Amino acid sequence: MLEIIALISKAVWLMLPAYIANPTAVVFGGGTPVDFGKNWKDGRRILGDGKTFRGLVGGTACGIVVGIMQMNVPSQWSLGSFTLTTIITLSFGALLGDMVKSFFKRRSGFERGAKLPLVDQLDFVAGAWILTYLFDPVWFSDNFTFWIIITVLILTPLLHRLTNIIGYYIKLKKEPW
Ligand code: CTP
Ligand code: MG
Repeated sequence: MLEIIALISKAVWLMLPAYIANPTAVVFGGGTPVDFGKNWKDGRRILGDGKTFRGLVGGTACGIVVGIMQMNVPSQWSLGSFTLTTIITLSFGALLGDMVKSFFKRRSGFERGAKLPLVDQLDFVAGAWILTYLFDPVWFSDNFTFWIIITVLILTPLLHRLTNIIGYYIKLKKEPW
């Protein structure tokens, strides 16, 4: 039991910059879309109105600010140490993953906001992990051990569901997913 609590705490700690970036993009979102409203060759939007510069920049910035706060936690309290690079790759990678997802969602004919279970919930995890691995593979494999990865994959859809239901009721999100 204690091992599981330790595993969950460590997983949340390591994912926190990404866990913050994703929902704060919703809070800051609006304005010019990243695809500037343009269509792809298939006549559908490249990304759609759900991906905006304000969301991208605001979300990334919030993730980085929280990561810097985590870096300043005294080592006896800290559950893992970040570098400036990994804070940036976790935050920005999360929203990059979300955008890549939207690109393929549009190509498959899903409208903005259409529900894609698990894909909508793990897109940002994949983006955060891939970008972080590319920039610092040693840090990634030291921190994201096999059991931490399993914990994140189980925990994230549950946390995602919960935050989106909250977001929907406080009228930040159009859909409760
Ligand atoms: N958002 C944003 N910019 C981003 C990511 C999110 O502005 N880079 C905001 C948008 O207002 C978006 C909302 O957060 O509608 C919810 O994000 P998400 O569920 O990822 O987008 P969807 O609107 O569902 O679009 P998609 O179908 O492309 O995922
Ligand atoms: Mg969505």
